[in-house]
Amino acid sequence: MTIRIPGLADVHAHLRVPGGEHKEDFRSGTLAALAGGFTAVLAMPNTTPPLVTADLLRRVQRQADAESLCDVHLYAGASPAHTAELPALGREAIALKVYLNETFGPLRVSDLHTLLACFCDWPAAKPIALHAEGPGVAVSIGLAAAFGRSVHICHVSRKEEIALIAGAKARGLPVTCEVTPHHLFLTQADAARLGPLGDMRPPLAEPADVDALWAHIHTTIDCVATDHAPHTLAEKRGENPPPGVPGLETALPLLLTAVAEGRLTLERLVTLLAHNPRRIFRLPAQPDTWVEVDPAASYPLSNEGLQTKCGWTPFAGMPVRGRVQRVVLRGKTVFER
Ligand code: NCD
Ligand code: ZN
Ligand code: ZN
Repeated sequence: MTIRIPGLADVHAHLRVPGGEHKEDFRSGTLAALAGGFTAVLAMPNTTPPLVTADLLRRVQRQADAESLCDVHLYAGASPAHTAELPALGREAIALKVYLNETFGPLRVSDLHTLLACFCDWPAAKPIALHAEGPGVAVSIGLAAAFGRSVHICHVSRKEEIALIAGAKARGLPVTCEVTPHHLFLTQADAARLGPLGDMRPPLAEPADVDALWAHIHTTIDCVATDHAPHTLAEKRGENPPPGVPGLETALPLLLTAVAEGRLTLERLVTLLAHNPRRIFRLPAQPDTWVEVDPAASYPLSNEGLQTKCGWTPFAGMPVRGRVQRVVLRGKTVFER
């Protein structure tokens, strides 16, 4: 028995082109996306070099269109040295990414001058997404209020953050947010067990934080995004392990398991992974596109058989229910298990 759901859209993935092709590339990353039920992926700009000029972004988008197995849309990165590029980037990119905190790669915005340039010069119709941890969430909400324009807050992980966002929404402020599967299904106890394979930004949190995210899953949380952040096992086990974990192939089985357990409705799953991402980021429609899922398939997640180039998952060994069997994109079968 299979059920049909719409093609999913991941609004937060790192496909590592250019400069990180040993971790992932457009082909391997979009094959992983299809295996996980995603037919559209928004790729982050913290590449090497980062996507901070319209010229580079245009070139990389052409490469993505040529090499990808599903639709890929690129984020532009906000950078203090490239604020003059914002209007041109605003014509090319799907959205702007602002990194307020320390994470993988050199992109960072810590001065008000650059932040104001972003909010003044970025097209009103296109989202501004922020990597904002802790007080950064309050900064993001304050900017949304001051400029009367929407912000999207990435990978919310703490109970205080989701409470702040719920408060902002209750007052009618134009704030949306995403959470990741790893922050919904793992805690600091898993981080201790996994070592560097359980390290990412924001880091895994306490059970009370995980409970708070689940308490807001049918209300405050707009999207589930994978933050697919592949790094090789050699890098993760090396001297200075980079933060980040892959997630494109495990997000849907994990959430289908939550549906099987009665913690989430299937309708809400589709809203979080398809309808809201497409609406918030104004993604182009994908006609004749769907995913066939076997909701009864019962198996443990595994490092074996993954399509991501990095070849591992922090969820290895976790029992799940539900598996993607076939993906049809614009009338063509693009994935079959
Ligand atoms: C991401 C990466 O590896 O690019 N790492 C992570 O821990 N999440 C960067 C990011 O999304 O902050
Ligand atoms: Zn981030
Ligand atoms: Zn990320």
